[in-house]
Amino acid sequence: MAERTLSRLNQPDAALEVTLRPSLFAEFVGQARVKERLQIAVEAARQRGEALDHLLLSGPPGLGKTTLAHIIARSMGANLKATSGPTIEKAGDLAGLLTNLEEGDVLFIDEIHRLQKTIEEYLYPAMEDFKLDIIIDQGPNARSVRLNLPRFTLVGATTRSGLLTSPLLTRFPLRERLDYYQPEDLAQIVRRSARLLGVEIEEAAALDIARRSRGTPRIANNLLRRVRDYAQVRGDGRITQAIADQALAMLEIDRAGLDEMDKRILEAVIVKFGGGPVGLHSLAVAVGEEPDTIEEVYEPYLIMEGYLRRTPQGRVANELAYRTLGLNRPADAQGRLF
Ligand SMILES: Nc1ncnc2c1ncn2[C@@H]1O[C@H](COP(=O)(O)OP(=O)(O)OP(=O)(O)O)[C@@H](O)[C@H]1O
Ligand SMILES: [Mg+2]
Repeated sequence: MAERTLSRLNQPDAALEVTLRPSLFAEFVGQARVKERLQIAVEAARQRGEALDHLLLSGPPGLGKTTLAHIIARSMGANLKATSGPTIEKAGDLAGLLTNLEEGDVLFIDEIHRLQKTIEEYLYPAMEDFKLDIIIDQGPNARSVRLNLPRFTLVGATTRSGLLTSPLLTRFPLRERLDYYQPEDLAQIVRRSARLLGVEIEEAAALDIARRSRGTPRIANNLLRRVRDYAQVRGDGRITQAIADQALAMLEIDRAGLDEMDKRILEAVIVKFGGGPVGLHSLAVAVGEEPDTIEEVYEPYLIMEGYLRRTPQGRVANELAYRTLGLNRPADAQGRLF
């Protein structure tokens, strides 16, 4: 199914991501303001010879959070140790990670919203005072030992910043949210990736791929790879606009770059709720997804592209949503003033 393809294209591919992942700020396309703020923070910390402040990166999947964490560590001349929220099961796991850090190192915790509550509490003093209180022994011999930690930088990444507790959130002096990319930026990423993969691509073909990538670099790179296969087998290897067109049609990639859940959401607003306004919770139940996933992962793209808008009464489908799904706007909705 067409829409499934796009969701599948936002799955990380370890080998590909390593080759195509930019390793310097200069190679990181787009997100200009985020990039500038981070570059200044990095430069300032370097000049002072200090570790960078803790940083929280949030935003939908595939927009460059992990990539930025690596770029930052590299610009700081620091090592990066990577882990993720769900893999830290016991306080001892966290203690092991923290005590193995060196001065200035970056500890990258992916999916930090999935960290257990108890582990989170150990993290607070570690982040604030670079101290770790651990309990050793059990029963009557149990006692708390305070360890000094090197000054490190915690870089947390999350697709769901709304799920972070406020004590954790407020312990990150630096917080940045990544947004969907404009087609021009994605086209630049596609051209860069094509160069790295050693394949020739026409300008118009790069833009075509970019437009169908749901604002997401990871999808753009994965689509490029599929189109490259097609060009190799059905053409002479070069990605011309005609070849890209045929390949994208064969892959049944949605012209508008929407995926299955995007369409389910729009369809629910239009068909089940008469075009809206509909509250987030009712919408979530109708499509069988968590309210905050809708709010943080799906909706931002739909709103940015003008399919949906938020009103104080709830979500309302725009004309573009009706047109894209090939649905007619009910007569009474057409004249309604929102
Ligand atoms: N600004 C960018 N410029 C060029 N390539 C990028 C950029 N951002 C991301 N990419 C490409 O997209 C891929 C996915 O990015 P990354 O793994 O950093 O996303 P993520 O936000 O960590 O996603 P997830 O939430 O799924 O972990 C990278 O391997 C890289 O090749
Ligand atoms: Mg990541």
